[in-house]
Amino acid sequence: MLILAFETSCDDTSIAVFRDTELLGMHTEFQIDTHAKTQGVVPEVAARLHANNIFIALDAALEKSGVKIEEIDVFACTSEPGLLPSLLVGKTVTKTLAHTYQKPLIWIDHIEAHMFANLIERSLEELKFPAVCLTVSGGHNEIYYWKSLFERELLGETQDDAAGEAFDKVAKAMGFGFPGGPIISQLASKYTGEYKGIFPVVLLDKESLNFSFSGLKSAVKREIDIRTQSQGVLTEEDKIEISFEFEQCVARILTEKLFRAVYKMQVSSLVLAGGVSANDFLKQMIAERAEKEGFSFIYPKKKVYSQDNAAMVGILAYYKMLYSC
Ligand code: KG4
Ligand code: ZN
Repeated sequence: MLILAFETSCDDTSIAVFRDTELLGMHTEFQIDTHAKTQGVVPEVAARLHANNIFIALDAALEKSGVKIEEIDVFACTSEPGLLPSLLVGKTVTKTLAHTYQKPLIWIDHIEAHMFANLIERSLEELKFPAVCLTVSGGHNEIYYWKSLFERELLGETQDDAAGEAFDKVAKAMGFGFPGGPIISQLASKYTGEYKGIFPVVLLDKESLNFSFSGLKSAVKREIDIRTQSQGVLTEEDKIEISFEFEQCVARILTEKLFRAVYKMQVSSLVLAGGVSANDFLKQMIAERAEKEGFSFIYPKKKVYSQDNAAMVGILAYYKMLYSC
């Protein structure tokens, strides 16, 4: 079965071709340079770029895969959640192609696709159910009880910002571009001192599986303002220390919530997904605790599968065709 998958939910125009579970080729047109200027994604600007780039990405993905469009058996596209103008570009193009070639069209949920990114280059047996999955991106931040391939239950979610959004806003407050996660993470890795705990590790109620990152974000912004005002400038050392303390704080919150959920649901399998699952420090913190406490832990095999990409759409489409459609 040949699958052509589209992902345009935010700022990346990504198209992938699968033969069953094998990723034959993927091409992504990134918009980072444009959105770095505005330090965030302007939905209408993103949609215009998707419209400009989508056929460039399509031709490149087909060429990399060695597949002709008339050979495609199934079309798939992210339908929600995401930025509406961006989603519409991918949906319109995919629907038109499916109609033209008279082939099935599968709509894909973006968060579910992030979870299924863990099955790219992995067999189904390697994902042990039931599991608890932390999905953490720029636009969403949840914990799911993942009972079986297509059965999941929401256990907790953010009450304000997502963790990725907090990374982006902290980066912006220090004058960096977008997306903030990789920039903060790189700066944090340069820190050589001890963790001081200068920002609050917000865990809400004792039992809560929900998240809140707006208080942390405000505390970081306050610290930036205080240091800037007292010194006249935010030094490189300040930026490194603030990045380290902030990243530590986010990782501690996410790890604690994930383990709360695991113990509550009495499962032995942990899964991480979404753009923030590209964060090395977070993966290391969860992996160390998982090993110590006897849990299995997986995250997407490559960083490119953590961030928004069409491969996660394609793999989910494959399993949907196989088991649920
Ligand atoms: O899943 P994704 O590509 O898009 C959404 O669905 O939102 O996630 C993007 C988010 C951004 O907020 C970005 O700053 C964050 O993931 N991110 C990271 C890292 N790489 C990307 N956050 C922390 N550390 C990283 N290495
Ligand atoms: Zn995403």
